[in-house]
Amino acid sequence: MKETIKTIKEQVSIDLKNVSNLKELMDLKVEYLGKKGKVVEIGQQIGKLDVSEKKEVGMLLNDLKNHINTLFDELTLKLESDALEQKLKDEWIDITLPSTKVNVGTTHPLTKVIDEIEELFISMGYDVVEGPEIESDLYNFEKLNLAKDHPARDMQDSFYITAEMLLRTQTSPVQARTMDANVEKGPIRIICPGKVYRKDDDDMTHSHQFTQIEGLVVDENISVAHLKGTLEILVRKMFGNEREIRFRPSFFPFTEPSLEVDVSCFKCGGSGCPLCKQTGWIEILGSGMVHPNVLRACGYDPEKYSGFAFGMGPERIAMLKYGINDIRHFYTNNINFLDNFDRLEREMEDESK
Ligand code: DAH
Repeated sequence: MKETIKTIKEQVSIDLKNVSNLKELMDLKVEYLGKKGKVVEIGQQIGKLDVSEKKEVGMLLNDLKNHINTLFDELTLKLESDALEQKLKDEWIDITLPSTKVNVGTTHPLTKVIDEIEELFISMGYDVVEGPEIESDLYNFEKLNLAKDHPARDMQDSFYITAEMLLRTQTSPVQARTMDANVEKGPIRIICPGKVYRKDDDDMTHSHQFTQIEGLVVDENISVAHLKGTLEILVRKMFGNEREIRFRPSFFPFTEPSLEVDVSCFKCGGSGCPLCKQTGWIEILGSGMVHPNVLRACGYDPEKYSGFAFGMGPERIAMLKYGINDIRHFYTNNINFLDNFDRLEREMEDESK
């Protein structure tokens, strides 16, 4: 039996030389140390030996087991590290190769205009406030001085969800919400960007969904002069330092007086061109002094407080600024349009340098 142990010891070293991967190694391990393996087989025979031999063979067998385990462990480590080496070699990547062109996304023109306007107003101490797109009749109309039978409601053909709830037709309800929510009834300076909805048939200049930015300032002694100064800053930021504005009388139920604002044409400088239809002026936004009824409906005392408000369409501003002729471009996810716009923007930046 001692002889057998010696032979196995020699044989295992020879067998291990032929092993080339972890699977073969595992199979060999079973052959030697498994339940029916060579080592167990000898162990079962020890019982038949006489006592004097039992001890010695037992020790030799233990020794064999340890020896085999050590050899297997060593080879396992080596094979594992070989396998890793091979994997690294196979999966080698040449990072010096030139890459394929990666298309980088660009900021949507509307987002750009909205961001620019937000940044300007934040720098003047305004808060940016958002309101719900599903709005109540109360905030969208009633509190803004548009009673149920008010003809101006027709101007804003609406998507009603129930008799009382609708997709907001304007961002003006955020004015009313903010005034209502201000428990101290103190001063307010906000702009409110967001999506609005109207039952319009989509064409070059109409979209059933578009964006607006609302502005509201409420304080003591606020006058049209404040409105004018603020809007001058706005148009100069958006259309250039030489721009002038002019007011035209208009009508909005929530302002009195209501004032339509034109900007001097940034294309011809005011001398007349196709863009300004030879008038030298381009209509840009609606505004006015907050109607006393609106102040009152939102808990402000019109004897103490006054305010101005304005509302503009980022689509219109972007269309004018970048010469975009169809409002639908903003919503059809046409990558060509967005790419062209990006190029146009870079050209305009280069020109102004
Ligand atoms: N909400 C108006 C609209 O959708 C725009 C507007 C005009 C808002 C004058 C104002 C304002 O706050 O003062 O046509």
